[in-house]
Amino acid sequence: AGLVVAMDGPSGSGKSSVSRGVARALGLRYLDTGAMYRAMTWWMLQQGVDLADPAAIAARCGEPRIVSGTDPDGPTIHVDDVDVAGPIRETEVTGAVSAVAAVPEVRVRLVALQREIIGAGDIVVEGRDIGSVVCPDAPVKVYLTASPEARAQRRSAELAGTTAEAQQEAMARRDTLDSTRKTDPLSMAAGAVEVDTTALTLEEVIAEVLRLVKE
Ligand code: ADP
Ligand code: CDP
Repeated sequence: AGLVVAMDGPSGSGKSSVSRGVARALGLRYLDTGAMYRAMTWWMLQQGVDLADPAAIAARCGEPRIVSGTDPDGPTIHVDDVDVAGPIRETEVTGAVSAVAAVPEVRVRLVALQREIIGAGDIVVEGRDIGSVVCPDAPVKVYLTASPEARAQRRSAELAGTTAEAQQEAMARRDTLDSTRKTDPLSMAAGAVEVDTTALTLEEVIAEVLRLVKE
């Protein structure tokens, strides 16, 4: 196996920005597994699947063809050849993704896809279960955290028309769903190094992860 940097943590902890920066600095590929769960959720909403019904989600989750591009300077995500990079960030998908991601059949399918991509060469992979489930043998595992206030501040600075308070509430709800689900809950993997980014700049966090890679 090659170099895999596993980057896990809750939403707004800095996974995407840090992973892309690290991949760029080292000339590695980059995979956003959250975008794959979002793409699956976008497709389910599009199809009118009842997201309160895990059996209905399980029955259909083999259908969409999800393709991830791994260039850290321009990651892409397509579902059945439709570019969904924009739509998967909308509130409707964000509000529904934890329910879809909790369905075991969805995880089995997307983890297999992720392992196929990871097997093709050196890469930085971000998500919730990369160090624990997708790639437990990854030589470098990072668990990013930040205070709930900082995470909400960052996300609301990125999105128009939302307040930090509303963000914090939505994030807390998703954190709870993601860390209490039965299958592959968000948790710190064995062997992971926790990096609290609350009081650090993005550049400082990237430098810290590069240091861990070189160790
Ligand atoms: P995640 O992928 O965990 O949801 P993102 O990387 O998408 O997190 O969002 C983090 C946001 O916070 C970005 O806009 C990033 O520029 C900003 N940010 C501010 N300070 C930091 C820091 N110390 N580490 C990482 N990101 C930071
Ligand atoms: O961007 P943000 O950190 O807010 O979320 P994301 O990384 O795009 O992930 C969206 C959702 O997908 C998470 O809230 C999880 O429910 C799910 N997810 C997961 O279950 N496992 C992963 N490896 C990645 C994401």
